[in-house]
Amino acid sequence: MAGQKKLLRALAGEKQDVPPIWMMRQAGRYLPEYRATRAEAGDFLSLCYNSDLAAEVTLQPIRRYGFDAAILFADILLVPQALGADLWFVTGEGPRLSTITTESDFAKLGPASDIHETLNPIYETVRILSRELPAETTLIGFAGAPWTVATYMIAGRGTPDQGPAHALREENTALFEALLARITEATIDYLSKQIEAGAEVVKIFDSWAGSLKGEAFQKYALEPCRQITQALKERHPGIPVIGFPREAGENYVGFAKATGVDCVALDNSVDPEWAAANVQVDGCVQGNLASRHMVTGGQDLVDDTRRIVEAFRNGPHIFNLGHGITPDADPDNVQLMIDTVRGG
Ligand code: CP3
Repeated sequence: MAGQKKLLRALAGEKQDVPPIWMMRQAGRYLPEYRATRAEAGDFLSLCYNSDLAAEVTLQPIRRYGFDAAILFADILLVPQALGADLWFVTGEGPRLSTITTESDFAKLGPASDIHETLNPIYETVRILSRELPAETTLIGFAGAPWTVATYMIAGRGTPDQGPAHALREENTALFEALLARITEATIDYLSKQIEAGAEVVKIFDSWAGSLKGEAFQKYALEPCRQITQALKERHPGIPVIGFPREAGENYVGFAKATGVDCVALDNSVDPEWAAANVQVDGCVQGNLASRHMVTGGQDLVDDTRRIVEAFRNGPHIFNLGHGITPDADPDNVQLMIDTVRGG
C-alpha cells in the first residue's frame, strides 16, 4: 500500500502510527475566508451551486491546515431539492422545505432519474477539486442517508426528536417506505455521479439514526445504507464507503459487517476504548473528538485528542470530530488538535 494516500490506506484496513485527519464541516463559518467567499456568493445555496466558489471553500481548510482529506462542499438537502421539493435556508434558524405528509405531496416529486439537471454543478465542483487538490489529499463525496433526508422532507425543517417522521412511519408506513425508496434510488445515482466525477470515497450521513430503535433501526437506517453501499460497489468496484449512523449506540456494533461499509464514523457519545474493542474489530473507524474542544481548546483538548489516538492505535483509524465543527470555534484550536495528532 506504499505510496497510496493516507486516508485510503486507513480505509483499506492499514493501521498507521499517525492516523489521517480531517474534520466534519471543515469548510465553514468558523473560518474568515469561508465567510468572505459565502458573502461573495450571496447565500448558502448559491454557494453550493457555484462550482468555482464551492471548490474554493472546499480548498480553504486544505490550504490552511493540510488535512488528509477534503470533503465536497454541498448539502444533504440538495437531493430533496433535485427531486422537486422547495428548499430555502432561514438565517440563524436552518433549512425549510415544502412538507411531504400525503400521497398527493409525494406525487409532486419527480423520478430519481431527473435529479442530475439540478445537481450537475455539484459534479462540476468534484471535477474541479480532483484537478486542484494536492496529490496526497483524498477527495470525499457525500450524501445524506434516506432516513435523515426524509426527516427534513416530512417535517419541512429540522426537528429535535424527528417526531413528524416517526408519526408518518407509524400512521402511513406505505407512503413513508415509498419516500425512503425514492431517496435511496436518487442517492445511489447521485453518489455514483460524484464517483464518476472524481470522488475517491463517499460518506453517508445519517445524523438522526439514533432516534430509530430496535427493528426500526435495522429497516430504516441499516438496510438503506446496505442497499446504497452494495449498489455503489457493484457499479464502482473497490470504492470505499464511510457510514455515519450518528448516535447509534449499541447499533454501531456489527454495522460495518451488515452494511458492507469500509469505515464507521463514531459520534462523541461513544467511549473510544469501548469502540476499539467492539467496532474497530471489524475494520476502520473514524472519530470521535467532541466538537466543543474546538471552542474551548487548552489542555482538555490535548488530553482528549491523545486519549482517542491511543485508544484506536492498534487498528485502522481516521481522526475526526464526533460531529461538525461549530461556527463559534477558534481556528487556532483546530491547529492545536492537528499538531497533537501529528506531533504526539
Ligand atoms: O462537512 C463539510 O464541510 C461539507 C459540507 C457539508 C455541509 N452540510 C455544509 C453546510 C456537509 C457534509 C453537510 C451535511 C449536512 N447538512 C447534514 C449531515 C451532517 C450533520 O451536520 O449532521 C445535515 C443534517 C445538513 C442539513 C443542514 N445544512 C442544516 C441542518 C443546516 C443548518 C445548520 C447550520 O449549521 O447552520 C445546514 C447548513 C450548512 N450546511 C452550512 C454548511 C457549511 C452552514 C451554512 C451557512 O454558511 O450559513
